[in-house]
Amino acid sequence: MFKEKIDTNNLPKHIAITMDGNGRWAKTKGKFRIFGHKSGVKAVRDTVEGAAEIGIDFLTLYAFSTENWDRPKKEVDALMSLLVSTINKETTTLMDNNIKLTAIGDLNSLPKKCQEELQESIEKTKNNTRTTVILALSYSSRWEILNAIKQIVKEGIKEDQVNENLFSQYLTTKGVPNPELLIRTSGEQRISNFLLWQIAYSELYFTDVLWPDFRREDLFEAIVKYQIRERRFGKTSEQIKEEN
Ligand code: FPP
Repeated sequence: MFKEKIDTNNLPKHIAITMDGNGRWAKTKGKFRIFGHKSGVKAVRDTVEGAAEIGIDFLTLYAFSTENWDRPKKEVDALMSLLVSTINKETTTLMDNNIKLTAIGDLNSLPKKCQEELQESIEKTKNNTRTTVILALSYSSRWEILNAIKQIVKEGIKEDQVNENLFSQYLTTKGVPNPELLIRTSGEQRISNFLLWQIAYSELYFTDVLWPDFRREDLFEAIVKYQIRERRFGKTSEQIKEEN
């Protein structure tokens, strides 16, 4: 059991996950891709509960990228209605577990129904305090960075005022600490336009587990492995040891 091996004094505050492999999972079972997405919901529920159970403050889930709009219309439509029904159904689970839901991405591009369900759930869960789940929907990091630049230019911010701190305030993750750990499932080792600015110093963890098979134990395993890595932020190993 990986849960017992977790050092609760050294938990990442923010974990980001690219949920990948739903389509391949379905294929191995001779089913349609959407069956994989539907089965992925179980993994979302278990992972969210696991994160809350051990006290992770922020969990960002990459549910739909800007590039995903290019998938066959049938799959996009099915994914959108799955999102709506999941958000609708799972709001009770979120309330029961004191979990707050938020979302990042070009939310205006989502179908109206999806936007409404999302807003309703965000509103209902806004005072929950245990863990914040951030859904990345119609999200891409380059879109986010360009938006930040446009906003900064529009506000006429002077060159000498632009620094990392100011720039972070214009990102959709404003107020959220950078993820210490980024997990991607299904064996793919890519970032795919996810939180490019925010993951500058994140530990990257890749697992072969396909998303529908991912459970809280897999999350705990990733955390244990993260905790045995040494995060140096460009410094030497000796400097880090002296600081601790
Ligand atoms: C990637 O697998 C997964 C997605 C594009 C969708 C993720 C969505 C869910 C798990 C559904 C519900 C989510 C929430 C948060 C309510 P893929 O289709 O790229 O798989 P492949 O690489 O094997 O084709």
